[in-house]
This record gives sequence, C-alpha cells and structure tokens, in this order.
Amino acid sequence: MSKQNSLQGVSTGMRRGGSGGGGGQERGQGGIRFGNAPSMRPAGMSLADEEAMEERVLAGSGNTDKRVRHQHDQEVFHALLRHHDQIQRELTQIPDGIRSLTTSANPEIVRLLHDHVPAMHHRLEENFGLRFWDPAFPEIFAQREKVRMVVTLVPTGVLVEETSDDPNAVTLIQAHGAVVSLFVRRGFAQAQESSPLPDNYQRVLGA
Ligand code: HEM
Repeated sequence: MSKQNSLQGVSTGMRRGGSGGGGGQERGQGGIRFGNAPSMRPAGMSLADEEAMEERVLAGSGNTDKRVRHQHDQEVFHALLRHHDQIQRELTQIPDGIRSLTTSANPEIVRLLHDHVPAMHHRLEENFGLRFWDPAFPEIFAQREKVRMVVTLVPTGVLVEETSDDPNAVTLIQAHGAVVSLFVRRGFAQAQESSPLPDNYQRVLGA
C-alpha cells in the first residue's frame, strides 16, 4: 500500500501561510521553538549576514506587513532546519519538473511545513524574494512566471508538483528540489552554504 493512498489531500490553491503574523512565538508541544535569538543558532553560523541584508531590503521598502511576514517565515524555516532530522522527503524528477512529498511524524513539524510551503508559493507569486546572497534563490524568483507550483497539504506533510514548459526553468526547479532535500538532510550546515546550480543552467540574472 503506497503512502499516497492513505493521504487525504486538501489543495490549497492560492492560500498563503505565514498569516499567523508576529514573530517570537513559542510552541511548547513537541519542544519546537520559534525564535531568532543568537543562542538558538548553531555556533559559527553565518545567517546573520543574510538576515541583515534582508532587513535592509525590507526596511528600504517601508512595508511593515512584509517585514512582519518575513520575520515569521524566517522563524518557520529556521525551525524546520533545526528539526531537519524529523523530516522525511521523497523527491521525484518528472520530465517537466519535480514531484515531492515532504513529511514528518511530528504534528508540530507538519504544522510548520503547512505554513512554510504555501507561504513560499505565495512569495514566489508576488515576487517577495529572500536569500539574495545565494544565486539559486534570486534565479527562481526571476523565473517565477515560468514556474507552476501546485501545493497539496496532506495530513503528514506537503505534496508539491513544480513544473515548467521551459527546459532551463525545469533545470532550475530540479536544482531547487535537490536543495530542499539537502536542507532536510543537513539542516543549518546546508543553509549557510551556497546552493548548487548545475552547469547546464543558464542564469537569467547577472552571474
Ligand atoms: C529543512 C528545511 C526546509 C524544508 C523541509 C523546506 C521545504 C520546502 C518544500 C517542500 C518546498 C516546495 C518545493 C519542493 O518540494 O522542492 C519548499 C520551497 C521553497 N522553500 Fe523551503 N524548506 C526548507 C528550508 C528553506 C529555507 C532555509 C529557505 C530560504 C531561506 C526556503 C525557501 C523556500 C522557497 C523560496 C521555496 C519556493 C521555491 C522552491 O520551490 O524552491 N526553504 N521548501
């Protein structure tokens, strides 16, 4: 019996995550904590640069709503990175992109996945970028009009199909799928490194 048979999918369509807003939440159950206190980052992590840059971009925009949303989104993906060893992921390459099933046995982590993925989907649609220092991320935002992303929330996680009609965008989508798998495998150790972009990917932004 495949896992898929027991999944009762609820397509989210345009629904966005991250609407819970404010930062600094703590969720006691399951020991998953939100928050950006330096003490919660592994020693030697250099996400501070990333965050300072994003703060500057957001401050320049004068948009408080976006700043609050970004802070929330950041707390969610930091929590996912911190608890990466409780996440399972099956990544399948399909001719025009990827299909992924990302799950956890811990309902708190399922809630984080249910927040993160629709929130990132929405950010792609509105071009609300992040991780500007890591070329693979600005590239996917630059290519967003060529990318179709169908997100289905399932009881144990998230099922995603990300596709394109453009072969170069397909290469990028597949590279991003592999990066998410690396985040799941290595957590913060991966998040502080640049994401691999294949040699045959032609950048649409300046190199
Ligand atoms: C363990 C940590 C993480 C997990 C489990 C996770 C999970 C996911 C999943 C399931 C997707 C849908 C696409 C796919 O399945 O490949 C996705 C997309 C996305 N994630 Fe994450 N993510 C993590 C960390 C991060 C981090 C650290 C960032 C940025 C700082 C990020 C930003 C994005 C963005 C921008 C997208 C939409 C573009 C794309 O599909 O690549 N994620 N994430």
